[in-house]
Amino acid sequence: MRKLLIIFFFISIAFSCNKRNTSTQESQTHEYGLITEKAMVVSARKEASKIGSYILEKGGNVFDAMMATEMALAVCYPSAGNLGGGGFMVYRMSNGDVGALDYREKAPLAASKNMYLDSLENVIPLKSILGELAVGVPGTVAGVFEAQQKFGKLSVSEILEPVIELANKGYKVTEKQAERFNLHDSIFRAVNGKEILYSKNKKAGDTIKNIQLAKTLQRIALNGKDEFYKGETAKILVEYLSERGGIITLEDLANYEAIWREPITFKYKDINIISMSPPSSGGICLAQIMKMIEPYELKEFGHNSLKTIQLLSEAERRAYADRNYFLGDPDFVQIPTDTLLSDTYLYNRMRDFSFEKATPSSEVFHGNIEFVESDETTHYSIVDQFGNAISVTTTLNNTFGSQLFCSELGFFLNNEMDDFSSKAGAPNMYGLTGAEANSIEPEKRMLSSMTPTIVEKNGKLLMTLGTPGGSTIITSVLQTILNVEEFEMTMQEAVSAPRFHHQWLPDYIRMEPNKFSKALIRQLEAKGYTINEERSPVIGIVDGILVTDDGKLEGGADWRGDDTAIGF
Ligand code: GLY
Repeated sequence: MRKLLIIFFFISIAFSCNKRNTSTQESQTHEYGLITEKAMVVSARKEASKIGSYILEKGGNVFDAMMATEMALAVCYPSAGNLGGGGFMVYRMSNGDVGALDYREKAPLAASKNMYLDSLENVIPLKSILGELAVGVPGTVAGVFEAQQKFGKLSVSEILEPVIELANKGYKVTEKQAERFNLHDSIFRAVNGKEILYSKNKKAGDTIKNIQLAKTLQRIALNGKDEFYKGETAKILVEYLSERGGIITLEDLANYEAIWREPITFKYKDINIISMSPPSSGGICLAQIMKMIEPYELKEFGHNSLKTIQLLSEAERRAYADRNYFLGDPDFVQIPTDTLLSDTYLYNRMRDFSFEKATPSSEVFHGNIEFVESDETTHYSIVDQFGNAISVTTTLNNTFGSQLFCSELGFFLNNEMDDFSSKAGAPNMYGLTGAEANSIEPEKRMLSSMTPTIVEKNGKLLMTLGTPGGSTIITSVLQTILNVEEFEMTMQEAVSAPRFHHQWLPDYIRMEPNKFSKALIRQLEAKGYTINEERSPVIGIVDGILVTDDGKLEGGADWRGDDTAIGF
């Protein structure tokens, strides 16, 4: 009896233990990421997080740190960090004001609907993926300037100084990075027609200096955003592209503007979620899934249990079917957002769901209302000492984008044009099929899955998070939020936990390999699900920051990358 009481006592401690109070003894049963008192940056590279955190320590805020972190990632994480790409940022000020910034790339003025089709209207393989015609008009420099000039506190030259130093002095190549450079070596040579900075058999521990990028950043520090869009940098870029047969003009660059958007906000149980609006599908799709699963007792089902995986997969299947049909650039297409997010609509979407058996995707169509994005993107989350938070996802699309490296400027150019649907119904490089809403038009922004997200609870900041991962971005963000809210994990545990993904088509559940038991996989198969453990060695690389109950910050930096949290 005494033994039973002791067991009961320990079980009750385990359940009452508050993982968000980092100072309780019980919290020691949890795995925590970095804990800081005031401010934090979590990004794909230690160097970038360090520079972002340094800018905060100098008195800068999240928007100053955004410029520093994003530009530092362009130096030391060139597979996705960029000047030649674009992204999205969601913010929440300490007073609760929220907003979103769209600095997604645009189709050039000379782009046209069928530009990737042959005379028989078949998609020409790789034309939207490799080289000059795959490049969308870059938005990153406009984005970081728009945010910093509106809300930042420091001068651009102060912010860019450590970034320029990093480019000049160099950074150490990590093992994961060396693997990437070497994997892409032959394709760099093929697309660029010569060796580039990253070509020569790089090894972990090598130092890479990017002197040309340092010069470009120096000019930007001096002349501002116009340097990139109207100045010497613009001229070099346009000349470089047009010599190769590219279609981006000086007019395209001069016309580019980052756009402030209303974020998508919605409630899930007692948390409030703020996420990215179109032209990213992230916020709408996340909202649809969370609203479809809200009526169920996930906590009772358990983390990554049979029922949880079934429920999430079925909601994801239905949301992705809608996404690929209805979403596109809101400045070009009408998106029925209210309907897509209405309780009645979502209730009806789940009416044929049953725990007894999978609904085949062939029986799921967009509601009487598909897209493709790349795996290679990067995310960073920042909270400053003033209580402001940002969540930023930025990309070149594919790993190293179009593979085109402008040596004179020191950066890669995106292949974001592949995020348009080249032809309605034809799958893009990630197997997602698009529809008319996401067809190519001059100056239109291509649909994205990027889901920079901020979560509030009781009117206060709870979490800022996001991830790369193409179409798996949305479901990785979803699972991380649920891991914290439903399954009571710490930020680090929530980020580290195994992930799965369903995107309607192809009709299978992608699972991280060897992370789910064979017995569970057999149970799912018996219900009619196909499981694919080969497609994705990892699903997402989530970086997040959680505000703990005692008001501290806990960073979740994903082991799947070289991601690092730094703060004070
Ligand atoms: N290119 C990746 C995305 O926008 O989702």
